[in-house]
Amino acid sequence: MSLLGKVAIVTGSSKGIGYEIAKEFSERGAIIIICSRHLDQSKTAAAKIGGTTLALELDVTSESSVKKFIIDIMDRYQKIDILVNNSGYPFDDSIWNKKIHEGSNDELEKIINVDLFGSVRLCRAVLPIMMQTSSTENQNSNPTRGRGVGGVIINISSTPAISGRVGGFPYSIAKSGNITLTKCIAKEYSGFGIRAYTLALGNIATPATLDSMTEQIIIKAALESPMKRWGKPNEVAKVAATLADDNFSYATGNTIVIDGGTVLI
Ligand SMILES: NC(=O)c1ccc[n+]([C@@H]2O[C@H](COP(=O)([O-])OP(=O)(O)OC[C@H]3O[C@@H](n4cnc5c(N)ncnc54)[C@H](OP(=O)(O)O)[C@@H]3O)[C@@H](O)[C@H]2O)c1
Repeated sequence: MSLLGKVAIVTGSSKGIGYEIAKEFSERGAIIIICSRHLDQSKTAAAKIGGTTLALELDVTSESSVKKFIIDIMDRYQKIDILVNNSGYPFDDSIWNKKIHEGSNDELEKIINVDLFGSVRLCRAVLPIMMQTSSTENQNSNPTRGRGVGGVIINISSTPAISGRVGGFPYSIAKSGNITLTKCIAKEYSGFGIRAYTLALGNIATPATLDSMTEQIIIKAALESPMKRWGKPNEVAKVAATLADDNFSYATGNTIVIDGGTVLI
């Protein structure tokens, strides 16, 4: 399987799951845009990954930051083939444990602005570019041969978006919006060969999650899964790379759960 020559944005790729996705894509030949709010951290991540990478600053909550980001990529590579919306609001214990009647609008807005509106902002900026590429490459399409393959968008969600959760409703709401966003992209843009997927993640062992928990909670979380363990970031990255590959050309809009078998849909 190959992503050779594809230009791929992975938001929030300075660390954690985003970093592993960027690394996996790079190993399969893609040109990777490493980005987060901290350019120094993105540059360090890009240097570690090697291959063909471009480190850029991106704040997904800022329209002007997104606009500049896209212009910089287009100036350099003139196309965008893959977008992974992975950026997530930093873990905040005080919000995570609140029930609906205890939470504030401010907390809800802060999380939605990154985890949902961030994905929407990037999709809005990238979809016209993907449509343009598709129109140029697929001028002679027909219904039996199809239009060929176009861009791929992967939105990172979470299992509470499917099953609900006691506590942390702003996060669950934001992540469920990503599932709907994926389905809308599939319905609206499949005619351009553009495909979209959601990855709904369970407990994935990144510093962001592990550092926020006691040893006891880490073990309890592992035992909740039929596989009795946490997932590794690279296990998410391999699924993302497989979906981004042209081999998935007749599947779109799907939610793929990666949680060791806890939430089954
Ligand atoms: N780990 C899990 O168990 C788990 C489970 C379910 C879902 N997820 C989801 O998977 C994604 C990655 O999680 P993770 O554990 O790898 O988290 P992480 O290590 O905290 O990484 C989050 C990334 O997002 C970036 N980011 C945060 N705010 C941003 C903003 N406003 N604009 C652009 N980038 C921003 C961060 O960089 P800066 O701070 O430098 O901007 C960082 O690169 C998140 O969407 C998370 O909700 C994770």
